[in-house]
Amino acid sequence: MLKPHLLIPAAGVGSRMKIGYPKQYMPFVDDRNLLETTVWRLSEMSLFASVAVVVSADDAYIDHCDLPQSVRVLRCGGKTRAQSVYNGLKALELKGDEWVLVHDAARPCVSKQAICRLIERLDLGDVDGAILASPVVDTLKIVNEAGLIEQTVNRELYRSAQTPQGFHVQALIRALADRLQTATDEASAMEAVGAKIAVIDSPVSNIKVTHPDDALLAKFFLQSI
Ligand code: CTP
Ligand code: MG
Repeated sequence: MLKPHLLIPAAGVGSRMKIGYPKQYMPFVDDRNLLETTVWRLSEMSLFASVAVVVSADDAYIDHCDLPQSVRVLRCGGKTRAQSVYNGLKALELKGDEWVLVHDAARPCVSKQAICRLIERLDLGDVDGAILASPVVDTLKIVNEAGLIEQTVNRELYRSAQTPQGFHVQALIRALADRLQTATDEASAMEAVGAKIAVIDSPVSNIKVTHPDDALLAKFFLQSI
């Protein structure tokens, strides 16, 4: 099976977690913080040619982390997630056009089976990229500025995008370069240049730890994986 590189952006400030320091360093499970949990889980899947983490240049926590020796730490995070990913991809200095998977440090519960399905899809060679996503379970409403419902939309047409998201590294660098302020994920940058991107079903347990309650839920999911 194809072996992509893995890049884990971890240069955010975690403002919505409201703990006064970046959420990727919050204590999580078995004496590991959130970042350590994600990095160890993904590294132990043995699916990747290399694993690298992007942190901000002034990060005061990363040196105290316990990460696998083979993991590269890139101190080149930016103001936006897209900028962190862009800087990280450039710092990898990949010479060819290898595949890279980008995965949020804040998603510790991602399923190995789902990542394998994503890599298998890339391996087929018929798409420019692939992302994990989950079906939407709630009924979806379009709401106007006054907070009133305008209409209900067909949720079958929608997916909630997750990570990892995989693309050829050079194509992704080019697409992100023009969208460093606006792209909230890799796929949106690649969509803008007309890429053909497959969506791979992934369990809703692959949540992004964003608000305080999410940490509780993610710890629960990890016990049952
Ligand atoms: N991230 C990053 N660089 C940024 C912003 C985000 O590397 N400038 C990373 C985060 O560390 C996280 C992932 O991108 O692993 C997803 O971002 P998000 O969950 O939004 O984390 P934060 O931006 O840190 O949180 P918040 O938006 O609540 O401030
Ligand atoms: Mg953010």
